[in-house]
Order: sequence, then C-alpha cells, then structure tokens
Amino acid sequence: MDHTPEYRPTVHFTPDDTWMNDPNGLLFHKGQYHMFFQSNPTGRLWGNIGWGHAVSKDLVEWQELPTAIPATTEEMAFSGSAVWDRHNTSGLGSGDEGPLVAFFTSAYTSEHPTRPRQQAQSIAYSVDGGDTWTRYEGNPVIDRGSADFRDPKVFWHGPTERWAMVVVEAKDRQVLVYTSPNLLDWEHASSFGPVGEEGVLWECPDLIEVPIEGSDASSWVLLLSTNPGGYSGGSGMRYFVGDFDGETFTQDLDGPRWLDYGPDFYAAVSFHGADEPLIIAWMANWLYSNDTPTFPWQSAMTVARRLSLVTTDRGLRLRQRPVLPDSLPDGINRFDFALDPGDEIAIETGEGENPSRVVLSRTPDGGLILDRSAADPHSVHGGIPTTNPIPHPPGTARGVVLEDHGLIEVFLDDGLISISMQTFPVQGPARIVTPAAVSRS
Ligand code: FRU
Repeated sequence: MDHTPEYRPTVHFTPDDTWMNDPNGLLFHKGQYHMFFQSNPTGRLWGNIGWGHAVSKDLVEWQELPTAIPATTEEMAFSGSAVWDRHNTSGLGSGDEGPLVAFFTSAYTSEHPTRPRQQAQSIAYSVDGGDTWTRYEGNPVIDRGSADFRDPKVFWHGPTERWAMVVVEAKDRQVLVYTSPNLLDWEHASSFGPVGEEGVLWECPDLIEVPIEGSDASSWVLLLSTNPGGYSGGSGMRYFVGDFDGETFTQDLDGPRWLDYGPDFYAAVSFHGADEPLIIAWMANWLYSNDTPTFPWQSAMTVARRLSLVTTDRGLRLRQRPVLPDSLPDGINRFDFALDPGDEIAIETGEGENPSRVVLSRTPDGGLILDRSAADPHSVHGGIPTTNPIPHPPGTARGVVLEDHGLIEVFLDDGLISISMQTFPVQGPARIVTPAAVSRS
C-alpha cells in the first residue's frame, strides 16, 4: 500500500516497496528490456544490497520481478552490468542459446572468512533468459585485494574481437580497463585518471561508442559518476569524449563536461544489446537519498534517454533525448517552452497558498539560473545550494519540461543541457506559470 501516492511516478520506475539505488545490468534481449538495480529487499534504507529486477517492452511501463542476485551474510552484490554471451564464449551456457552473464561487485562483509571488507568482481549467469541467476563457482573473476574496486561495465569491442570492461578504483579516482576473450579470464590493459578534484569517489563508469550526428563517424564517451563533485552539489555525473582502441581510452583536449546540471542524476549507464546508446540514471543524490519522503519505497530512475554526439563550436557534446511515447499516459506533463535572455518560467506543483515552485530564468547576458528556493521544503537539502547558475550561450533557449508527480527533467537546446531534480509537491496538477512561450502536450 502506498502511503504517499502523490509521489508515486507514472513513467519513472520505482520499486514497489523497497530501497533502490543505481541501475545495473541494463540489457535488451529478445524484445525485452531488463533493468536490474541496487536493492534492499527488506527495507527502504540502503543496506543488505543485492540486485532487484524489472522488465519492460517499451522503457516506459516496467514490471518488477523477484530479486535476481540476493545479498548473503558474507557478500553484498554491488553495481555492475550484464551481457548476452551469444556465442557462449564463457562456456556457461547450455544448448544453442548463449547465457546472460552479469558482472557484479562482490562487496564482502566483515563476516567473509578470507576477504573481509574487500571488493572484487564476480559473475552470475542465467540460462533461462534472465528469470533465475546462478553465482559462478570461480568467483571472484578479478581480485586486486582492494577495498574500493567496483562497478564493472562490460561490452564487446568489435575491432579487437574481445570483451572489454571498465571498472573503478573509487578512492584512487581511476577507471581501469580490462580485456577478456571469454568473460572469465581478465587482463588489465590500462588505467585512466586521476583527473579533477581530489577527495571524491569515482563510481559507475561506462564507455560507449556514440554516433556523431550528420556523419558516419562516432566517438567514445566515458561516463563517470562522482561523489561528491556533482554540478549542483552532492553526487553527480560528467563525461569525457575521446578515442578507445580496445585497450586505452584517450580523452580529447576538451576535458570533462557535465552530463546533467540538476541535483538528482547519478550512476547512469547504457543498455547492452540495444541498437543505439540508451541510458537510465538513478534520480537521486547520495547526500539525502535515505531521507526522501516516499513510503514504502525510496528513489526513482530517470526516464530512458537516447544519446548522440553533436559537433558544436566548443567541440563534441552529448545530446540526450527522452524516450517517451507520443501520447503521454495520465499523470505526466510535458511542456515546451522558449526563453529569451531576461525571461523566466516557473514550474509549479501543488494547490493552495504555497505551491512548490522551481524557477528557470535567463540572465540579461544569456546565462541560465535554476532556482529551487521556493520548492517544497522536502525537495531541497541544506547541504547544497538552492540556486545554481548554469552556463548557456546568448540567444533563445528552447526546451521541454517533463513532470511526473514532482520528478522534473528539463531538456534544453534539444537535449544539449539536461537538468534533473526531485521535488515533493502536495497533490495536484503541475503547471507552468509566467511563460515566455509555452505549449503543453
Ligand atoms: C554508486 C555506488 C556504487 C556501488 C553501489 C552500492 O551509487 O556507491 O559505487 O557499487 O552504489 O550500492
């Protein structure tokens, strides 16, 4: 039973009645999208972490399934990825169908006899299309004796005809690349980093080949989550654009860019097996994710986003476009708007004297300001600013706002800028006020 039905989103995935963090093992297989996620099947706070599971035909309607990889007393199953081993390179399959192979981080508890409090990379596999999962006997498959080695993302690298993995040494601020012919035996090929601020954790890397619009070319994009170090404070995400030869990622001269400017966007990774780059992020922030007022579940995912690269005068930039049906289900709002320098719009939710208000304004010189200071108090956390300037070139800023029971995703300049935030309004329809030019669909 939902105790806070006003916060239960329609198209953003939420677990029925448990805690959730990062999306894991995103996989398109046989006409179905699988999303696993960091889950505490016994409560709405972080702990006892294993992999929850949900499936969807269209990335919009999700059905939650039983836990796929449960925690044990000796080992939690932290974040990772999944692939379809179509040619059974691992030998873990049976019959003609290759197995599904999931890579998770074994986060050993203090009860583990030989590796207490260490982290290493392990495998679970499924020979029934993802319904049931078996831990591999030879786990872990990569062990460095480290306490902060996690979040393996595995993909097939066509030119070298090998599997590749990116994984982090979180405290060292390094992304490590490993390669393998068979998903079981892994060799360390290179390390990327450290880059940027000290004292932040690097988490949940992904390395994706992304097509450049208007050409036949593509570039490689390294997604990185850092905690803290987010644009709006707390945890957040950046990306690097560069080249990958199957062993080494070389970033272009441009440095990291922000993947999202809002406070609630973390641990985004891409789907394996989809014919275009598609990502989903955890729509939350480690600073306050255990304290949001949703019962009996905690946390939501963003909607899925399609990625492409765009050539701009500042270099290549990612475009993110939300994956949504043309006609939206009830309870989700989509507003198109155009803002000239000096204009502002407010996204208001809730009825009565004190609606929750988020304001997006253009400064006279063309910059952009996100102001959450009049949002419902549940929506803002004292540890991070409520007002953030966001760089924007002069000229009209066109955008779209998606609002789903207080979850707000803004896409500006056709997806070159995205801003994701949770708000917790009282019940009532969302609306946009003081619009420059707004249309609602
Ligand atoms: C990122 C993260 C990962 C880790 C998981 C634990 O949000 O901290 O690095 O694997 O969450 O739940």
